Amino acid sequence: MPESAFQLLVEGVLDYAIFMLDPDGHIVSWNIGAERIKGYTEAEVLGRHFSVFYPPEDIAAGKPERELESAVADGRLEDEGWRLRKDGTRFWANVVITALFDGDGRLRGFGKVTRDMTERRRAEQALLERRRLVTHLVEAQELERRRIAWDVHDDSIQSMVAVGMRLQLLADRLGEEHAPTVRRLDDAVRTAVDRLRLLVFRLRPPEIADRGLVRAITAYLADAAPAFGLDHVVRDELEREPPADTAVTIYRIFQEALANVHKHARASTVEVRLSTVDRGTLVEVSDDGVGVVMSADLQAGLEHFGMIEMRERAETAGGWWTFAARPGGGTSVRFWLPTTP
Ligand SMILES: Nc1ncnc2c1ncn2[C@@H]1O[C@H](COP(=O)(O)OP(=O)(O)O)[C@@H](O)[C@H]1O
Ligand SMILES: [Mg+2]
Repeated sequence: MPESAFQLLVEGVLDYAIFMLDPDGHIVSWNIGAERIKGYTEAEVLGRHFSVFYPPEDIAAGKPERELESAVADGRLEDEGWRLRKDGTRFWANVVITALFDGDGRLRGFGKVTRDMTERRRAEQALLERRRLVTHLVEAQELERRRIAWDVHDDSIQSMVAVGMRLQLLADRLGEEHAPTVRRLDDAVRTAVDRLRLLVFRLRPPEIADRGLVRAITAYLADAAPAFGLDHVVRDELEREPPADTAVTIYRIFQEALANVHKHARASTVEVRLSTVDRGTLVEVSDDGVGVVMSADLQAGLEHFGMIEMRERAETAGGWWTFAARPGGGTSVRFWLPTTP
């Protein structure tokens, strides 16, 4: 490329401030990107010292000079930090300073490339903030569920069991004519205890740590699928068990995916496949139901919380989550969580 064309390119680049400094740090060239990002025209800025772009605290700390010294020592310096526009507002900049030497090794000046990263930084921080919030939320939810499970277990179930025992004593004292009534009461108490146990079992992923994820999922399916009118298949292709934290996350996502199959799919079979992929755990929950039907809400962009929660849980754990139609009909929720977040 002829030099003039190259020069045109540099001068015309909008997204990067590209300019040069003399060996003392005075500005000797300017491009349109620099004007756009920093707000100075070429006429205003030529000859000025590049420290005008630095906030007062950086100037007081001698940062501009230090950066030039590092660039000379190492040939190049990269920095991210606040810089000033002409109007005094700050932007988050990515800065690369390159020391330019001639053939005799004499310092001729510096090339400086600056990018405005304000938007990117804002987006990253918003994302981080959201992640933090969701992590707290998920943790709080798990804690609360566990607490409720213990309360139900230690309190409600124990009381009901005590009621059952008193009924037995009562049955022995009452005459034969009251036996059917007592039996009915006794049945009612047993049913209540069973229901409460089921509630505890759903609230607190049962012994994932002791029995492993696959058995916990299989036990849940054996209980829930018939109640949902679903046949179920579990394919265990795991080469190794995920760690306990990851297992709980997988279990929760699986629960929500299964609830969706029950609520929306009108399927006859649900299949859960677990495999070890890429040093992580890949899980697929597939159904043979109606497939992805765009509801009015979905079309209107109104997000449903189930989908968001599943995705957030997976992403918070450092993994990914997708929901898609299956080629043969029905849908498939697939997600992957790394072994170490
Ligand atoms: N297995 C599925 N089969 C068909 N449609 C589904 C399935 N899972 C989810 N959907 C669709 O996606 C929508 C969003 O799901 P979700 O975010 O869990 O919210 P909700 O279950 O409260 O409706 C559902 O309303 C439904 O239209
Ligand atoms: Mg749902």
